[in-house]
Amino acid sequence: MELLRVSKLSKVYGSGSAQVTALADVSFTVDQGEFVAIVGASGSGKSTLLHLIGGVDRPTEGAVFLDGQNIFSFSDDQLAIFRRREVGLIYQFYNLIPILNVTENITLPLELDNRQADPEKLAALLKRLGLTNRREHLPNELSGGQQQRVSIGRALITEPALLLADEPTGNLDSATSAEILALLKQANREYKQTIVMITHDLEIARQADRVIEIEDGRIIREAK
Ligand SMILES: Nc1ncnc2c1ncn2[C@@H]1O[C@H](COP(=O)(O)OP(=O)(O)OP(=O)(O)O)[C@@H](O)[C@H]1O
Ligand SMILES: [Mg+2]
Repeated sequence: MELLRVSKLSKVYGSGSAQVTALADVSFTVDQGEFVAIVGASGSGKSTLLHLIGGVDRPTEGAVFLDGQNIFSFSDDQLAIFRRREVGLIYQFYNLIPILNVTENITLPLELDNRQADPEKLAALLKRLGLTNRREHLPNELSGGQQQRVSIGRALITEPALLLADEPTGNLDSATSAEILALLKQANREYKQTIVMITHDLEIARQADRVIEIEDGRIIREAK
């Protein structure tokens, strides 16, 4: 069943001689429960695409449909709620809040939405992420892999329709990268989490259900 439809998406930054076409007429669909990897050279438009899918930015042209609804038909306020409830974002450098501990970082998206974490679900998530005995630690007391696990927890706590990851293993050694990928695969296989993940690591991309390759803002290849 189709969850996501990206339709003729274009993004042009700047104007005049400084104009950059970051994305040009990109279309594809993602099924509920699919794990899709996006690969491509630096500057090819991968992060731009992910931010548009997540409603972080608006396109120059085209549309993104989630469950049949064009997210860019939303007002800015509606789009903010969409981002908070329907999208989980994971970045290369974790983007944790330094003064909040592990539990507080993970539950932040709920707090911002005036909701509270179900204590049992939170405990189960901490356990699944191997963070139970680190739950009161601050980010600077954690390894890179542990920090990325916190950011996965923060992305999953709202049970989003879409998990979007931009180079989630880009800052980690190969053993830790494998751990992070295993957690994402578990979310996908056991919890039917739909994932779109950018990676430059072809070994990691190979483990997704499908790989979409981007060059100069266009899809040049799709492989199962
Ligand atoms: N806010 C912005 N203003 C102007 N140009 C931008 C902006 N963001 C991205 N670009 C340009 O758009 C193009 C695509 O950038 P994008 O960040 O999507 O690439 P990427 O594939 O994610 O690269 P990387 O692998 O290095 O992260 C690049 O040429 C970049 O310089
Ligand atoms: Mg990028």
